[in-house]
Amino acid sequence: MSRQPENVDSPWAAQQGDAIAELSAVTGGLAHEIRNPLATLKVNLQLLAEDWRELSRLDPAASDLVRRSLNRVETMLREADRLAHILDAFLRYSARHEPRRIPCDLSQLVARIAEFVAPQAAAQGVNLECRDADGPLRVAVDDDLLEQALLNLVFNALQAMPDGGTLTIQTRRLPDGRPAIDVIDTGTGIPPDRVGRVFEPYYSTRRGGTGLGLPTARRIVAAHGGHIDVRSEPGQGSMFTIILPADGPP
Ligand SMILES: Nc1ncnc2c1ncn2[C@@H]1O[C@H](COP(=O)(O)OP(=O)(O)OP(=O)(O)O)[C@@H](O)[C@H]1O
Ligand SMILES: [Mg+2]
Repeated sequence: MSRQPENVDSPWAAQQGDAIAELSAVTGGLAHEIRNPLATLKVNLQLLAEDWRELSRLDPAASDLVRRSLNRVETMLREADRLAHILDAFLRYSARHEPRRIPCDLSQLVARIAEFVAPQAAAQGVNLECRDADGPLRVAVDDDLLEQALLNLVFNALQAMPDGGTLTIQTRRLPDGRPAIDVIDTGTGIPPDRVGRVFEPYYSTRRGGTGLGLPTARRIVAAHGGHIDVRSEPGQGSMFTIILPADGPP
């Protein structure tokens, strides 16, 4: 049995690193390659659906057959949309997350996100609260990337409250000085035996979910030198906390 080297700087580890980098370049390229023909397929299915609608309008006698065909085209369109959604999520996950850090106020970032999701929150009866517990928090981050990570947490929180509740997004400084953002919901919560799985790629309990939202958020936060904590109580809700390093990036 071969022994796994402990030293990450070893030639073995370097080779593994190269192999992983090559594999992710190949799979990323593959996803890009699939996207274009898929887009062509979608446009043509849309045109086909329009033709069939027009046909059934012009010739009501043939409408049964046409309606059946139209249903099939619409099923194909839905599946093509789902494929495009999976590919986009995969590309966001596998992208090289090399943060371009600029000084940014986390409270402002949170306010922007809250403004963006406010209509959806209102539509599902979710009360949205934003707090900056310790005033403005200036941190050098890639705000586009961090926004993407935070949005993934916020969407999950909203999805966990289909019948309303409260979503709190809060910035604060931990006692040791590290900046943190909490996303707190009063939704379904996560059973204790599942909480360890939520960051696994493709783990999803949601119909239509890719299971890549949290792994992507985790990769982005890790690229900033931070991590994400979870606390959850079934039937009570969940709290996901993004914790960033205290003194800027390592
Ligand atoms: N706030 C939350 N409350 C309850 N369960 C959650 C919460 N956040 C995540 N989960 C659980 O973790 C799973 C994985 O989340 P993740 O964001 O990775 O994928 P997803 O939301 O299912 O799909 P996608 O992000 O593509 O929409 C979810 O399906 C859900 O079971
Ligand atoms: Mg999600």
